[in-house]
Amino acid sequence: MIISNKTLGLIVIILLIVIVFLNYDSTDTLVGPGTRGLSRSTYLKKCIDLYKKERNPDPKLIKRPPVREIPADMYDEFTMYGKMPNRKYWYINEVYSDSTSNNKTIMQEYSIMDIAKLVEKVKNNEPQPHYGDKVLNELMGNYSSYVKDKSVVVIGTQLPWVEAIAYYHGATYITTLDYTRKKYRVANMNWYHVNDFLDEHIEKRKIEEFDVDLLKKI
Ligand SMILES: *[C@@H]1O[C@H](CO)[C@@H](O)[C@H](O)[C@H]1NC(C)=O
Ligand SMILES: *[C@@H]1O[C@H](CO)[C@@H](O)[C@H](O)[C@H]1NC(C)=O
Repeated sequence: MIISNKTLGLIVIILLIVIVFLNYDSTDTLVGPGTRGLSRSTYLKKCIDLYKKERNPDPKLIKRPPVREIPADMYDEFTMYGKMPNRKYWYINEVYSDSTSNNKTIMQEYSIMDIAKLVEKVKNNEPQPHYGDKVLNELMGNYSSYVKDKSVVVIGTQLPWVEAIAYYHGATYITTLDYTRKKYRVANMNWYHVNDFLDEHIEKRKIEEFDVDLLKKI
C-alpha cells in the first residue's frame, strides 16, 4: 500500500492529538494526602465508589450493638501508631433515632447568637462544660495557622464547640458531619447528616474540598 506524504502527515497529526488527549488526564494530577498523585477523574471515581459503599454498607459489616473496644486490626491507625494512646474505654451506645432514617426533619437549629455565645467562651478562654478542661482551646490556639483561612470539617458533634474554636481562629468555612440532622443559621457553616452529605456528593459527583479535618474521638 502506498501512502502519500499528505496522508502520512494527517495520520501523524491525528496520532499526536490522540496522544495529547490520552495524556491530558494524567497531567491533571492531584497532590495531597491520600490522593497519591492520581488523576482527578480516577480520584473522583474512587471517592464516589467509596461514598456509595458508605451510603449502602454491607449489612454484614454493621455491628449492633456497636463494638465496645477498638477492633485489633484498626487499633494502630486509630491511635495514630501510639501518638494518641487509648487510656481507657468509655462506652455509650448513642445510636440516635435519626441515625439511619431518611426523615429529613431538622431536630435543632443553631442561630448566629448560639454560635456567638460559644465563640465568646472561646475568646474568654473558658472550657466547654462537658470537657471541663482547656486542652482543645490551647491545642487549636497553638496550631491556629492550620485553621486560619481554611475550610474545616468537624467529624462528630454534639455541641459545636470545636466548630466555635475553629471559627474563632479564622476558619473560612466549617462543615459538621454527624448522624443527627441539625442546621446552622450561620453563613459559612453547614451541618450535614452523613447520609445527606453522601447523597449530595454521589448525585452531583463532587469531591469534598476540605483543607483540614478535626476528628473528635471523644
Ligand atoms: C419525622 O420526624 C419527626 C420528628 O421526630 C416527626 O414528628 C415526623 O412525624 C416524622 N415524619 C415522618 C414522615 O415519619
Ligand atoms: C501550647 O503551647 C504552649 C506554649 O508553647 C505550651 O506551653 C502548651 O503546652 C501547648 N498546649 C498544648 C495543649 O499543646
